[in-house]
Amino acid sequence: MQQQDDTFPTAVVTGASSGIGEALAHELAQDGYRLVLVARTSDELNRVAGVIATKYDVPTIAIPKDLSTPSSGAELAAELKRRELEPDLLVNNAGFGVMGEAASLDLEEQLEIIDLNVRTLTELSIRCARTMRRRGRGGIMNVSSVAGTLPGPNMAVYYASKAYITSFTEALAVELRPYGVTVTAVVPGVTKTDFHRRARMEHARLLKSTPAMTAEQVARIAYTGHRKGKRVVVTGAYNHFSSWCSWLIPNAILLPIVRKLHT
Ligand SMILES: NC(=O)c1ccc[n+]([C@@H]2O[C@H](COP(=O)([O-])OP(=O)(O)OC[C@H]3O[C@@H](n4cnc5c(N)ncnc54)[C@H](OP(=O)(O)O)[C@@H]3O)[C@@H](O)[C@H]2O)c1
Repeated sequence: MQQQDDTFPTAVVTGASSGIGEALAHELAQDGYRLVLVARTSDELNRVAGVIATKYDVPTIAIPKDLSTPSSGAELAAELKRRELEPDLLVNNAGFGVMGEAASLDLEEQLEIIDLNVRTLTELSIRCARTMRRRGRGGIMNVSSVAGTLPGPNMAVYYASKAYITSFTEALAVELRPYGVTVTAVVPGVTKTDFHRRARMEHARLLKSTPAMTAEQVARIAYTGHRKGKRVVVTGAYNHFSSWCSWLIPNAILLPIVRKLHT
């Protein structure tokens, strides 16, 4: 996308301080977007913003914010309005999971997964959908996961949150397409990021038995697919294969295997 007379389209990327979000921010900056980067850790966010602003010469704003609080969606919307920024592209990427049995893990932490992965993603999507529909253009990319294609014993809330994201995003895509707004569910599989350390699953069998992509590979495939107007972008051949397996193999066979992979 070419910038014209200093006018940059605006992309808001959540979870941009590391991993897939950081890589997506690079993709978008390279394509001429002004970036609004959101995550909690301001040091990391400012580091990413500094690198991108220097490398691509695009305006880059860092907004440190915890997106798991109920008021965070409204606060971010107010902050964008205050800066007179209307997103042309929203990337809901911030997300986390934790490994363990639902009945054993901390309850508040599991509810936080829903607040971040589901509630705030939904709020930001709907807020942007309204303005994009009125303007007759725009895009939304919601980062889901192969985890959203099946139930996930020993990671139940995370898998369910990703099933919600894919379902919600696909439906929104159909609703907004007639208005010229492209909505895409991004479906990565195992990707080399900080996600697994944060999920306390560095030693899980899943990671020893599954090929991992880089965040840069995932970001490139995701954004290319979004630009082509795709409703769903599964990243890479192995993840296509995994998705097909979860649709074809009965849950009675599959779920005990998934449980084992999460130990
Ligand atoms: N890595 C994988 O194997 C994999 C596979 C499939 C899907 N995904 C999905 O990809 C997305 C990105 O994850 P990643 O792999 O890139 O992991 P990551 O490196 O841990 O990145 C997660 C990002 O989300 C931000 N974040 C976490 N909690 C937040 C909160 N409460 N408020 C605001 N920002 C928050 C983090 O920054 P702060 O900690 O600074 O807030 C970070 O920027 C997630 O939605 C994840 O579910 C990952």
